[in-house]
Amino acid sequence: MSGVRRIGVLTGGGDAPGLNAVIRAVVKACKYIHHITVIGITGGYAGLVELRARELTLDDTSGLLVRGGTILGTSNRANPFRYPYVRPDGAEEMIDASPAVKKNFEKLGLDCLIAIGGDGTLACSERMQRELGIPVVGVPKTIDNDLSATEYTFGFATALEVATNALDRLHTTAESHHRVMLLEVMGREAGWIALHAGMAGGADVILIREIPFRIEPILAKFRARERRGRPFSLVVVAEGAAPAGGDQVFASEDALTGWKRLGGISAAVARQIEELGGYEVRSTILGHIQRGGSPVPVDRILASRCGVEAARLAATGQFGQMVALRADQIVAVPLVDAIGKLKLVDPGCQMVAAARAVGTVFGDEDPEAVEESEG
Ligand code: F6P
Repeated sequence: MSGVRRIGVLTGGGDAPGLNAVIRAVVKACKYIHHITVIGITGGYAGLVELRARELTLDDTSGLLVRGGTILGTSNRANPFRYPYVRPDGAEEMIDASPAVKKNFEKLGLDCLIAIGGDGTLACSERMQRELGIPVVGVPKTIDNDLSATEYTFGFATALEVATNALDRLHTTAESHHRVMLLEVMGREAGWIALHAGMAGGADVILIREIPFRIEPILAKFRARERRGRPFSLVVVAEGAAPAGGDQVFASEDALTGWKRLGGISAAVARQIEELGGYEVRSTILGHIQRGGSPVPVDRILASRCGVEAARLAATGQFGQMVALRADQIVAVPLVDAIGKLKLVDPGCQMVAAARAVGTVFGDEDPEAVEESEG
């Protein structure tokens, strides 16, 4: 017997479709199988710093499977080790609030914490266990699909569906107006959404962080298409993409945490295409539409399986683990091995090769070869 009677659950970092499905699965598995109490912590780790929590019952799980966002709320500014504190004079500073987490974890009578989050939340959870002795179980989450220990994260399939749908819509208007249409999608370090959506939507150009681009092969692709009677083109740009020798484009920076929000690379690329190529260009930033709304079936299933396994690990005292998808099985991997290593697109991978084989340009090609490729 593990002696686990009461577990906490929180969602940290940016939200992703499927978070509520995980919460539902944790609560149901804990009630039906393990007969233990689940306490929902609100606002990510902020809820443990400021003691905001409530018991989750089966009634709370009604309708959760299809609901986007997270009923617990989340925050990507709630790292207890560097926690924003508002001083009496109104100024903000960073403090170490981890002692409050430890105190409130004990006050709530918890035996374990299930932390559902991305790399930041998982790294923070691993540190909680190592330094404060708080037993944790991790559930990986990110629409970017960039966590190396798991093959897919829930939320990615939904984001991909939204991005592909957007591309399909841009396709028809691009064709009608003979324009170049740019679609900027999410993906901080990894270009998985751009690569997959670009393939699914038949993009002529895919720009990702892992393959620095130059403008010449892109313009060569447009010219080659024009000559073949296709005077319009579709370009998918990952928000983290950058030109060869150039920098990423940021929309803003948080003065306190230094967190930089990406955004705007598509406008920069659009300007170059207009100025150097003379094309009429429109660009769309898809933004948080990729993160909101109901999860697609694949994400609902993956999230539910992750939640069930996380509940089992917690209930049986297997702490310091993260659930992961490997070869279609949900397995446990040591949290410490799962953090800090991002899963990036390998420019030499089969998927990139397949995209190139169907004529997609990534911006690193020889412009002359691209110009000739369409015959
Ligand atoms: O990591 C997930 C993600 O959606 C990134 O793709 C994106 O850059 C970031 O979160 C946006 O975060 P925020 O919600 O703070 O704008």
